Amino acid sequence: MRQQRSCLWVASLAAWQALLLVAAVLLSPASAAKYETPGETVQGPDPATMFEIQGRTFWNKSLGLDQQAPGVLGHQCSAARPSPHPTEHLTYTPNRRWPADPADGRSAIVMAVGGEPERFYERIHNTWATWQGYFTPHIRRNTVLILLLDANFWTDLTQLTKILMLERLDCSTYKRACEVAAGLDQGYTVFVLNVFVTMPESTNYLEPQEPFVVLMGIKQFPHPYWIERGNRTEAEVLASDWKTEQCNRANYAYTKFTNWYSYHMFDELRILDYFDYWWKIDDDVRWFGHLPMDITERLVAERRIFFQTALDYDPWWCIGPSLADSIQLFLDTESDLCGRPLRAVAHDKVWWTNDTYIYLSEFVGGWLGMYTSPELMEYGRIWNYYPYSMWTWRWGDQQFWTKANGMFDDGSGILDLSYLKQHDTSGGPPKGKTDMMFYHG
Ligand SMILES: *[C@@H]1O[C@H](CO)[C@@H](O)[C@H](O)[C@H]1NC(C)=O
Ligand SMILES: *[C@@H]1O[C@H](CO)[C@@H](O)[C@H](O)[C@H]1NC(C)=O
Ligand SMILES: *[C@@H]1O[C@H](CO)[C@@H](O)[C@H](O)[C@H]1NC(C)=O
Repeated sequence: MRQQRSCLWVASLAAWQALLLVAAVLLSPASAAKYETPGETVQGPDPATMFEIQGRTFWNKSLGLDQQAPGVLGHQCSAARPSPHPTEHLTYTPNRRWPADPADGRSAIVMAVGGEPERFYERIHNTWATWQGYFTPHIRRNTVLILLLDANFWTDLTQLTKILMLERLDCSTYKRACEVAAGLDQGYTVFVLNVFVTMPESTNYLEPQEPFVVLMGIKQFPHPYWIERGNRTEAEVLASDWKTEQCNRANYAYTKFTNWYSYHMFDELRILDYFDYWWKIDDDVRWFGHLPMDITERLVAERRIFFQTALDYDPWWCIGPSLADSIQLFLDTESDLCGRPLRAVAHDKVWWTNDTYIYLSEFVGGWLGMYTSPELMEYGRIWNYYPYSMWTWRWGDQQFWTKANGMFDDGSGILDLSYLKQHDTSGGPPKGKTDMMFYHG
């Protein structure tokens, strides 16, 4: 099902590129009949928006489709989209083009940190050395960490910077990078990690020429409107014993911060314009083996819309009837605008029809071309505000990904990396299994 030509993209010798492109164009009619991830390709970086951080380059990759007012482009059939809807399935308009050279792919690990700083210090204390040892050296060429700290609790980054062994980027040398970062969203400070760790001996070594880039910001995360309608403040709710009625009776901060990724992250973070993929990794993920591939390059080369590391099932009491209801509302509204029934692309797949299927979201990622498309943003908004849903049944982001994927993809765009995960954490990392590389908690 995946495109034959993907292997061609991996070759990156500049001299061969023109030739390969011609080959790809000639090959494409043969694969046109098959289902393919939509989206055009683009050659090389955009010099007009590019900035550099010690050899790492970033440029605006967004087509800006998510910047339109809600509803303008987001519907399957609308006045803004005069040509007839092409299929009986939902479609989306990619908000990115695919880098013709997979080496031009960029990923951002977004970590939203809620709650008391001490809690995060403690968690990261147990895991960060394994990030420095096993993980960051393999991803630093094309992947960055975006750390967002909840303004309700954080005022200062000094101690965290020390714990993570980060160095502030020299802004006199990298003026443009610092300026762009400071001007995006709530403002980011750019740091680099130069200290890596040889594992399993735990000896530090320095690689100043090959840093891992970390962008940090203190952010005011959005809170739900029902708080103000009830004449309360978020601080009051945070301090209260508020719990979800259903699921594991999660507290307010847990519900808010796990759910934030599914809609608000895409709606709010303009910094993601500089990336092809978002990743989410929990702060209690520990790495124990070397990554056997360049994930970003592989995602781009294979035109993947998502990768997952564990398929699982949530109990019914974490799903509720609202999940199916919200999907039905979305499908019926879109069908109504088109005047005929539309289906989800994965309508006949069990992982779509059975609402209990989820991806454990301690390590997942997706293509921003799809996740910030106006059509998926439209569903994200309904999903996020659907009554008696996230705040009743504690929908975190993990309830979202299967539904979002299946709406617009039949599953062939999903990369299964579940073999990287060790499920049993009791005995420590398995000996000799070098392609297993993380566990959770
Ligand atoms: C990136 O480019 C798009 C399309 O021109 C534009 O709408 C968007 O605002 C740009 N993003 C940033 C962060 O400048
Ligand atoms: C909130 O305050 C307004 C104005 O004091 C009052 O009219 C309203 O009933 C209050 N609402 C709730 C839910 O307490
Ligand atoms: C959905 O999947 C779960 C887990 O495999 C299973 O227990 C349940 O019976 C399924 N529900 C339906 C309606 O098929």
